[in-house]
Amino acid sequence: MARSLLEITDLAGDELQQLLTLAQNIAEKNTPKLAKDIAVATVFFENSTRTRVSFELAAKRLGLTFCNVDINVSSQAKGETVLDTCLTLKAMGFAAVIMRHKQERLINQIAQQVPDLTFINAGDGMHAHPSQALLDALTINQQKKVDWPALKITIVGDIKHSRVTPSLTAALTKLGVQQIIYCAPNYFLPEQLPPNVAAIEDLAAALADSDVIYTLRVQQERFDALSEINLQDYIDNYQITKQRLLIAKPTCRLMHPGPINRNVELADAVADSSQSDILKQVENGLYMRMAMLTFLLNGDVG
Ligand code: NCD
Repeated sequence: MARSLLEITDLAGDELQQLLTLAQNIAEKNTPKLAKDIAVATVFFENSTRTRVSFELAAKRLGLTFCNVDINVSSQAKGETVLDTCLTLKAMGFAAVIMRHKQERLINQIAQQVPDLTFINAGDGMHAHPSQALLDALTINQQKKVDWPALKITIVGDIKHSRVTPSLTAALTKLGVQQIIYCAPNYFLPEQLPPNVAAIEDLAAALADSDVIYTLRVQQERFDALSEINLQDYIDNYQITKQRLLIAKPTCRLMHPGPINRNVELADAVADSSQSDILKQVENGLYMRMAMLTFLLNGDVG
């Protein structure tokens, strides 16, 4: 049975820490090489820039054979099921499929049906996005050199429709972070909170003493009525501005998974400031995805 990574909870014991170490080694230019005859494919049913491209670059940097299945010109348009697409790739000898799909846990079902193919979840609906959480943990680890239990990490924005938040929360929890705050207006808070998370609607109260502010896009494509929310009201009360950044610790780092909607969740001056790690996250995405492929396809985390 092939090893897949569909959610952060698939990582046992100290495997998350092993991935952080492996990705950091890769960042320091110790690139592992995998056998050229291992083939991996990206199959993305939703838009993506950084996730898909960095998986492609990661595979190529590792010396793997790589193909992107372009869904717009694939047999999906002729009515092929996602399962049949995966079985087809398996029959050609692909070892791994990296998939993004709007249907939550579809990838979990398919991974059970095709147990000898490695699956990597690159985002499923509002459920999970483990590679994003892992690259975020790598970025925090580098910036904070890090005493995880002492950190206060505040996630601000459209948490309700975010798949990044559940995975990031699971990763931070595994690493021992004690203070995870969700900050959003009521309409962007999830109905149920993880047991170790506090929700605070008041932005200033949430930002006070934060070590990391993790901002999220208003993910309009994942909910029906934008009319349910007042975007200007959201901007007035929750946009991270230079002034609001001052409420957090002076050493506070600012993160965002991208894509940014400039001057909605983040003011330009903040997105481009020296406190912003947004492009560092993108860079680390390459290293972490190389680490994930090495870990899953080789098991070599030495
Ligand atoms: C996120 C996603 O697709 O879930 N982006 C990403 O993968 N970097 C967040 C988002 O779309 O806002």
